[in-house]
Amino acid sequence: MKLPTELLLLALTHLASCATLRPRSANFASVRGLTSLSTDHSSNNDVLRPEKYFHESTFHSHYDGRFAEAQLPPQTRAFHLRLLLRSYMDTMDIIGIRTWIMHGCLLGWWWNGKILPWDSDVDVMVDERSMAELGNWWNMTVHHYTAKDLGISAKDMEKPKIPHSVEDQKAHLRKLYLEKEVLRKGKKYLLEVNPHYTNTSTTDRHNVIDARWIDTATGLYIDITTIHVAPTPPDPRDPSSPSSNVEDEDILMFTKDQHAYSHYQIFPLRRSTFESIPVRIPYAYESLLAEEYGLESLTDTWYNGYGFDPDTHEWVIAEPTEQQSKELADREAMKPKPKPKPKERPKPEPKPSPKLATGTVVAEAPHSTGEGVHGDKAGQLGDGRWPPGPGATTKA
Ligand SMILES: *[C@@H]1O[C@H](CO)[C@@H](O)[C@H](O)[C@H]1NC(C)=O
Ligand SMILES: *[C@@H]1O[C@H](CO)[C@@H](O)[C@H](O)[C@H]1NC(C)=O
Repeated sequence: MKLPTELLLLALTHLASCATLRPRSANFASVRGLTSLSTDHSSNNDVLRPEKYFHESTFHSHYDGRFAEAQLPPQTRAFHLRLLLRSYMDTMDIIGIRTWIMHGCLLGWWWNGKILPWDSDVDVMVDERSMAELGNWWNMTVHHYTAKDLGISAKDMEKPKIPHSVEDQKAHLRKLYLEKEVLRKGKKYLLEVNPHYTNTSTTDRHNVIDARWIDTATGLYIDITTIHVAPTPPDPRDPSSPSSNVEDEDILMFTKDQHAYSHYQIFPLRRSTFESIPVRIPYAYESLLAEEYGLESLTDTWYNGYGFDPDTHEWVIAEPTEQQSKELADREAMKPKPKPKPKERPKPEPKPSPKLATGTVVAEAPHSTGEGVHGDKAGQLGDGRWPPGPGATTKA
């Protein structure tokens, strides 16, 4: 008597899907085979933000609560973020999606080609055509990577050291356990696409993240956002004239989280490496970073408990030196209050300085930026906060 039960189940799932017509991320039951958790730790936005698709965890906004119940110990976070980035770049390369790193990642790349030690997320962008491809063909796909695919072996694992306090020991055991699991079973990554990706309006502010690449073992993820071409407003003086010299004109681009970019700042993309992983980076990276985080983000060698060691080229936990404290105090004193919002986009620098310490950078042939352009005009630039630390508000 199997059939009736099955029919009943079918009817039930049908009912259930009718009841949840509102777009929500794939629910906990549907990822049961993928997650090691028995309960969902996603924050419930049903009432406050019913139209929001992705749900972050209750304990930290950079973790997916369907796959994690706690933050990772900081000693192992960079390890899992690296694997996340490697698997993402690798998959996108294989399926032919053009993608590039942005925001805090780009800043880390600029300094030493590595993830900033205080960062807990990875940000990337894609163009409209790529996002449509992901949405049409790759939504909810699971990508399995073995330890070998991820380029790690037992040799790479740190030798266990015995930490002092009980708290350290617990974190240490968790770190070892998670890393052993990668060696044993590899990792499974889930690509989930927000159905709101087709809504390019910046008023859709709870759905500014178009897709996520999620580590199903740790709940860490990569935020994927689409860059759109802003519609050109008709010339009020002469609406009938076709816009002259389109070739020379800059194209305004934007993302749903209200960042505005010039086409020249992003394209043509350059090739480089980040965490020894082949990546693409936007063309005028320095002007982008200065715009988003302020010029000081490229010169300050102390930030939020970390100092940049010029010999090892690493950010390490450190007190500011006398010189650094003085610089910070001077800047604080000079700060205009309240800080005015930048009104105009600064001109992109066509020629970035060659002083970069991170491997070779090769410009790529320009590509088209995708078609099907519509949406609201992007208003603001970033908020100038530098750099985005853990616990910083998400853009979602
Ligand atoms: C992706 O799949 C999820 C789960 O089925 C669904 O909620 C979502 O709408 C899908 N996204 C797209 C772009 O179709
Ligand atoms: C996009 O989202 C906004 C905000 O939720 C909504 O007002 C608008 O109608 C949506 N546009 C489309 C085309 O769905």
